[in-house]
Amino acid sequence: MVIRPVEPGETSAAAEVHRLAFGSDVEADLAFALMRDDAFVPALSFAAEDGGKLLGHVLFTRVWLERDDGKPGFPPPLLAPLAVVPESQREGVGTSLVEAAIALARESGEIAVFVFGDPAFYGRFGFVGAAESGVRAPHPVQPEWGWQVLELEPGLLGPSGALKVAPPLDSPEMWRE
Ligand SMILES: CC(C)(COP(=O)(O)OP(=O)(O)OC[C@H]1O[C@@H](n2cnc3c(N)ncnc32)[C@H](O)[C@@H]1OP(=O)(O)O)[C@@H](O)C(=O)NCCC(=O)NCCS
Repeated sequence: MVIRPVEPGETSAAAEVHRLAFGSDVEADLAFALMRDDAFVPALSFAAEDGGKLLGHVLFTRVWLERDDGKPGFPPPLLAPLAVVPESQREGVGTSLVEAAIALARESGEIAVFVFGDPAFYGRFGFVGAAESGVRAPHPVQPEWGWQVLELEPGLLGPSGALKVAPPLDSPEMWRE
């Protein structure tokens, strides 16, 4: 298995990984739309491939902090969604994808990565609850503990504000479990 960035011609194949993993078109359509959006961050959006078949995919889009004080905010990457095809789950593929993306984000000078997901999975990478950072999701999150941040440059987060996200992620139901 190799972990490598998704190539431009693989949009449909990558979306199919999400359809198989989640068992629904919702996440596949979301992934497809995000890969077509200006906010897509292809460099961080890794695929796990084995013998020409995609086994997993992690997708990142750039988001923008709209500071409460009205001053310009920073634009961190947001991880969403992450998927591994059912027959390859629990074999470390998802972990490898997230580790590769975090390592590159750190190397590239990103100051933080945000995610809305299960702390039981994301905690192993160092993600912690984002409430204390003062950075809010674009819509009320449910459950609140799903909103997490990994600070890559500790101390640089803040002041407070809300993240503006790409249109496919900008609806309240995207932020409820
Ligand atoms: C969640 C998912 C991406 C994890 O990828 P994976 O390759 O199966 O995970 P790994 O093998 O790297 O890691 C397995 C670990 O994650 C845990 N884990 C797997 N899925 C989990 C989930 N949905 N919630 C919490 N923990 C989970 C396992 O218990 C295991 O923990 P352990 O190492 O302590 O035993 C994958 O199972 C998947 O695609 N699930 C369906 C889609 C989904 O729910 N995505 C959520 C992320 S947006």
